[in-house]
Amino acid sequence: MSSEDQQIREIRVHPIENGTVIDHINAGQALNVLKILNIPTSSSRVVSVLINAPSIHGRKDVVKIEGRELNVEEVDKIALIAPNATINIIRNFEVSEKDIVHIHSQIEGVVRCINPNCISNSNEPVTSKFAVSSNGRRTILRCSYCERIISDDIGEHLL
Ligand SMILES: Nc1ncnc2c1ncn2[C@@H]1O[C@H](COP(=O)(O)OP(=O)(O)OP(=O)(O)O)[C@@H](O)[C@H]1O
Ligand SMILES: [Mg+2]
Ligand SMILES: [Zn+2]
Repeated sequence: MSSEDQQIREIRVHPIENGTVIDHINAGQALNVLKILNIPTSSSRVVSVLINAPSIHGRKDVVKIEGRELNVEEVDKIALIAPNATINIIRNFEVSEKDIVHIHSQIEGVVRCINPNCISNSNEPVTSKFAVSSNGRRTILRCSYCERIISDDIGEHLL
């Protein structure tokens, strides 16, 4: 691991009055979480991103968003790339709710199959569909049409 990797980069740290803290994100996935939340760079929201923060279980990323709660679709996508994430709702500067994320056994229309010849990538109106399983820390997707497996970089294949 390079010293660059070990560096803790705090883009902005700011206590949140009302909003959401997504904690225990797998190290390296914070930017994919931001992509899922679709926060425009032109937004005036305060967003803090912590990458490679030391934690008791090794390294983690943390994303804090002022003035924003997450919808179910966003939480489900986060579960795919960060199965250990906790979603902390902050109200009046305090954690008022803490939820763990859940991985569904089937996902539809969430991830693009990596097989270019898969019917879900053709001009047919076929929604992508995967069976989801997990071996230890790794989430494994199997395409329901072509059986292609995606297990690394799921965050790179989100629709
Ligand atoms: N007002 C706030 N503004 C910004 N971040 C906050 C605020 N309150 C709590 N947090 C962050 O939210 C996360 C959860 O806070 P909590 O106090 O539940 O920590 P914890 O007890 O370590 O939780 P866990 O057991 O889930 O790790 C932590 O990362 C904490 O730094
Ligand atoms: Mg903690
Ligand atoms: Zn496929």
